[in-house]
This record gives sequence, structure tokens and C-alpha cells, in this order.
Amino acid sequence: MSIFETYRNATPRSAELYRDASALFPGGVSHNLRRFFPHPVYPRAAAGARFTDVDGHTYLDLWMGHYALILGHAFPAVRAALAAALDGGWHWGMVAPAQVELARRICDAVPSMEELRICSTGTEATMYAVRLARGFTGRPVVLKAAGGWHGASSDLSFAVKSPFQGAEGPGLLTQREQGVDLISFNDPEATLRVVEAHRGKIAGIIVEPMIGAGGFLPADRAYLALLREVCDEQGAVLIFDEIITGFRFRYGTLADAYGVTPDLTALGKVVGGGLPIGVYGGRREIMEVANPALAAPPDRPVLVGGGTFSCNPLSLAGAIATLDGLKERGEALYTDLERRGAALRQGVEERFAAAGVPAVCTGKGSLFMTHLLKGEDRGIASPADIAVKTRAEIKDRELRVALLNHGVFAVHGGGSLSSEHGDSELVALLDAYAAAAVDLKGELKF
Ligand SMILES: Cc1ncc(COP(=O)(O)O)c(C=O)c1O
Repeated sequence: MSIFETYRNATPRSAELYRDASALFPGGVSHNLRRFFPHPVYPRAAAGARFTDVDGHTYLDLWMGHYALILGHAFPAVRAALAAALDGGWHWGMVAPAQVELARRICDAVPSMEELRICSTGTEATMYAVRLARGFTGRPVVLKAAGGWHGASSDLSFAVKSPFQGAEGPGLLTQREQGVDLISFNDPEATLRVVEAHRGKIAGIIVEPMIGAGGFLPADRAYLALLREVCDEQGAVLIFDEIITGFRFRYGTLADAYGVTPDLTALGKVVGGGLPIGVYGGRREIMEVANPALAAPPDRPVLVGGGTFSCNPLSLAGAIATLDGLKERGEALYTDLERRGAALRQGVEERFAAAGVPAVCTGKGSLFMTHLLKGEDRGIASPADIAVKTRAEIKDRELRVALLNHGVFAVHGGGSLSSEHGDSELVALLDAYAAAAVDLKGELKF
């Protein structure tokens, strides 16, 4: 039986739900990444490292809520904090005592964050960060990396997917109209050419210290240091999008591990412990341009921070419980995740090689992505390499479904480990990748 037939036979209830959803939502989904052929799997409940679907199968989860759940699904301390917060009402739309508690924790862990604001999504956080950069400098141009995903705001929805060019679709202005240009991740010379072309007009540069959706590709330290120098020299604002990387590899940011300090940082995902959150902040003098108390008419502050649900009691409670849970586990958690992640990346590559399917695993710490190669060249350091050297379409089609058939839910051929993915889960994951690689070899030409 083919990969897709096996999956269809095992998931009739998911298929039925998807048919219903397709009549009501474009593509049957509210987030494109959740849709895949022939139909998405519909979870019923999740706990720890696993979820159960509506057809009664249990899967090991690698997606972990878009990489948000570093302490696992239904983490007990977050559950308890939510239950306590619910008793007080879950939406006030007013300032909340807990916002100070959360802000103190974040600022302690991220020293470059002198002031911050809290919103409900990462998309808002990066959108406001680039607006602050423009407002602070009075300049129009924002540079972003080709292959970088910062959420779907109109400001930054350019060159996200292969072939990494231009607006992501109709309905968006052109890059030029939006004041955006692209830099090549990890390519200093090409980046400097773009910087030169906009000399004097650059408000800021936004980049992930490890490209996330674009391939889990860590930046070279020298590349980040170059961006820092460029921003200093041009008087531009350096923004690190750490929505995936923040609190993922250490209790703090990846930037601090690199020793390169941005002017602004965006956080989300892990920080919220599974509740909606976005955080943006950094140098006080930049953040203060948004202070409504300081702008006397006719001057106006930079407008950041709408959001009916910003700083809602549930997100604050979930975030505080998560950060405390991470702090309590300390370095040991991150060391364990690092060890398992490295073993997984190596083990997956070995299993694919054994099946005769050339593949490379990128990533760092508890994050990994599997790329199926077109040829012998295994050098994958940038989104451009992924576009040229890999068969990117297979990751979220055949590979996603083959892994589901063997009890694993992965996105882009990989995902993230949590504290609940222990050594026995690691063995089960590697067995599933081995079996999926054999299935791929049987069905596709490599
Ligand atoms: C690096 C990065 N920035 C921003 C976002 C947007 O965050 P959200 O989905 O919470 O709006 C994402 C989401 O995947 C992301 O990976």
C-alpha cells in the first residue's frame, strides 16, 4: 500500500472533518502550514510528548505547538497557573499585576531588554519592532533576510518561501513600496552590497540568529557581528527575531550566547508556554519613542501596542509558570535537550543513509529539520542552499505522511524536542524515521 493509502485508511474521521472544514475555510485551515495532502490529522487531546487523534491513534509530537511547548503538552505547572488565573476572570483589558512579574523575569534573562511591551502574537512583536526602528530613526528602509519568516504582517511578508523573492502573494505591496529589501543570510559580501545601496536610508535590519522556518540554519557569529557593525555605522536599529530561539537553547536569548547584542529583540512561542504571546523590547531610548506620556502635541508617539487581548491574565500566568519551570530545571534541561537533539540529528541522517535516501539534518539544540538532497552536495548553510540543493516539497508531503504512518507528527521533516521527549522517545523517533526512510525509498526515486 502506498504512503497515502495507508494514511487514508488509518484516519477516516480526520478525512471527514477535513471535508467539512474545506467547505468553510479556504483550504480547510486557518494556518496554511497545518494543511497537507491528503488531509491533516485532527488531534483530540495532548499530554507530554504525545497526542491522540480523533481516530484513536497516538503519535509522538515533534511540532509541539509550533515549537512553543518546551515543557511538553499540558505541562502541570502551567495547567495549575491557568486554573488559578481562571478563577479571577480571564480577560480584563486592563493593566495586570502579573505583567510586571513577567517583565522582570524577561528583562533579568535578557539584559539588553531595558523596556518591553507584551502583545498576543509574534507577528505583532516583529511588526511593532520594525515600526519602532522606523520611528526612532526617521528612515524608511528595513532589511530582512531572504528565507526569514517573521509572521504574516504586511511589513515583512517578503521572500519567505523558495525561491525567496518578492511579496509572498497578491494583496501585498511590492518590496519597494513597503520599504523592504532583502539580504542573503550568512553571506557578508552580498549583504554589504545591499546595505551600500541603501546607505543613509536604513531604519533597521531584522534577522533571526538562527533562521527558523527557512531551514533551521544557525547564523555564523561573524555574520551577526557584521550586522551589528553595519547598524552601528549606519545608525540603524538591529532587531533579532528570537521568537523561536528565545529560551529554546538557554534561559535567555541565542544572541547572548553568541555575544552579539541587538537593539531590539522579539520573543514569543516558548515564553508563552502554549498561550498566545509576543514580546518586543530592547534599548530604552528606542522603546521610549512609543511612550505616550512623553510626546507633547503636536508630536505623537510611535504607535505600537494595540491588542484587545494583550497582557491577558491567562497568557501572563502561562508565561510566568513556564519561565519558572525552565528556571527550576536550570542548565540541566538545556544540556539534556542539546544531547538528545544532536543524537537525533545524527541518528536520522544515519537511518536515511542506510535506506539509500540522501538527507541532511539541520538545526541546533532541540530543533531539527530533515532535508532530502538532490545530489551529493551536503552543504546547507542558507535558504538559498535549500532552494538549490534539496527536494524541499517532499518534506511536507510524503515524509510528513510516512512519519505519521509510523506514529510521529513532524513538520518540515523535523521539529522540536521538549523535556518530555526522553531517551525512550528518542529510540521510538529514530525507529519511525528509519521506517519512513524505507517507505520513501520504495515510493520515490532517489
Ligand atoms: C521566527 C518567527 N518570527 C515570528 C513568527 C510569528 O509568530 P506568531 O505565529 O506567534 O505570530 C514566527 C512564527 O512561526 C516565527 O517562527
